[in-house]
Amino acid sequence: MAEAIMGYSPSGIFGYSHMLGGYAGGQAEYARVPHADVGLCKIPNGLTDEQVLFLSDIFPTGYMAAENCNIQPGHIVAIWGCGPVAQFAIRSAFLLGAERVIAIDRVPERLQMAKDGGAEVLNFEQVDVGEALKEMTGGRGPDAVMDAVGMESHGMGLEGLYDKAKQAVRLETDRPHALRQAIVACRKGGTVSIPGVFGGFADKIPMGAFMNKALTMKTGQTHVHRYFTPLLEHIQKGDIDPSFVITHRLPLEQAPHGYEIFKHKKDHCIKVVLKPGQSA
Ligand SMILES: NC(=O)c1ccc[n+]([C@@H]2O[C@H](COP(=O)([O-])OP(=O)(O)OC[C@H]3O[C@@H](n4cnc5c(N)ncnc54)[C@H](O)[C@@H]3O)[C@@H](O)[C@H]2O)c1
Repeated sequence: MAEAIMGYSPSGIFGYSHMLGGYAGGQAEYARVPHADVGLCKIPNGLTDEQVLFLSDIFPTGYMAAENCNIQPGHIVAIWGCGPVAQFAIRSAFLLGAERVIAIDRVPERLQMAKDGGAEVLNFEQVDVGEALKEMTGGRGPDAVMDAVGMESHGMGLEGLYDKAKQAVRLETDRPHALRQAIVACRKGGTVSIPGVFGGFADKIPMGAFMNKALTMKTGQTHVHRYFTPLLEHIQKGDIDPSFVITHRLPLEQAPHGYEIFKHKKDHCIKVVLKPGQSA
């Protein structure tokens, strides 16, 4: 299936449906793990589980996305989305030397967490994001832009209706509202980094803006192993404590409730950690 859509099968991925191998994900009741010894990372003494848990996905994802921004001293990075991945991207951008990070979302507690990480924030329901970014960057645009939203981006106005309608009649698989906005907002010669997942086909990508402004695009499924050691060192040195992103700790029996509040962004939920053996 992947070959038919993408030309080649990119890889097998846990929990990414039959298109990418049909491997059950880490949250399945049982998962078969080929070459399990290769996937392990030995954690030194003195670190808590919560400090290192996110080395398995979202911390490397945010970090690789920031690395893909080609950050240079003085750079301004704008990040669409303030979900868990974006929260790590914000902190990683600062670790990599960004001078300013501007984060965009509409969920108040997510915007607050971004602010706590040092970002300036924009609520896309309250401001015109493109205009606000121009204003905040002296009319020049951010040096790098990042789409940490992906294929289920929330669109507004006519554009939002367009994507919904095309998706409903199966003429478009992905809703790339944030990506469109990011490409248009980026400064000339800037970089577009996309950690957000896309699955198939996205319409109305502003290729004219992309080409004429000479932008560079970098993306990909995260190379998690590549980042184990350097990010573990950052945690050990105290540069970052990834447990900041945890808003809920629940026993395994309350997993359905955890999924419910995460999916519907209830109870200020940003990241749930399930603790088998812990009583309710
Ligand atoms: N590349 C990888 O290897 C990799 C790894 C993990 C996750 N991801 C992907 O990263 C993306 C983010 O993951 P997450 O867990 O943080 O997701 P999430 O759903 O918790 O966060 C997405 C955020 O985007 C916001 N949003 C929606 N539309 C927006 C818009 N138009 N403008 C600005 N913000 C908007 C939402 O309010 C939400 O807070 C997803 O696509 C996920 O699949 C990629």
